[in-house]
Amino acid sequence: MLDLAAGGGRHTRLARDRGYRLTALDRDASDLAGLVDVEVVQHDLEAGAPFPLKEHRFDGIVVTNYLWRPLLPLLPDLLAPSGVLLYETFARGNERFGKPSNPDFLLVPGELLDIARPRLRVLAYEDVEISEPRRACVQRIAAVREGEPAPG
Ligand SMILES: C[S@@+](CC[C@H](N)C(=O)[O-])C[C@H]1O[C@@H](n2cnc3c(N)ncnc32)[C@H](O)[C@@H]1O
Repeated sequence: MLDLAAGGGRHTRLARDRGYRLTALDRDASDLAGLVDVEVVQHDLEAGAPFPLKEHRFDGIVVTNYLWRPLLPLLPDLLAPSGVLLYETFARGNERFGKPSNPDFLLVPGELLDIARPRLRVLAYEDVEISEPRRACVQRIAAVREGEPAPG
């Protein structure tokens, strides 16, 4: 699995402890460095360098609380057949509750669905206001890359 913009690695740890092999990427890898059995990739996604894992295919990708729009079209390509994308981050409307309030960091309605279509099958999608751990507007999606039909 790939944990993108992994931060302190809370999802990396969770998945690793359930037996998955993890790659955790962040521009600041200081909180990830000590993680056992995790491949840590220090990389600034926004600096214009090629994405370092472009040739990799993952059975799962998790992205939470991070948005860099140029990355979005790449995500389906990074999934192996039957691989699952789990993505949750702040959405438009969140500016009423505080940060992030910059539109660059807020999904517009349906934006996570647009990543999935047409290549991923959407298992679940929400565009909701939550109250825990604090009030916020988020979108979240679970989507799977279905096996590609055999050529011919
Ligand atoms: C709000 S934290 C979320 C961390 C983790 N996904 C979570 O939910 O616990 C955002 C993360 O994005 C990372 N980040 C911000 N800009 C980045 C960039 N340009 N390239 C890679 N990671 C970046 C930060 O270092 C931080 O760890």
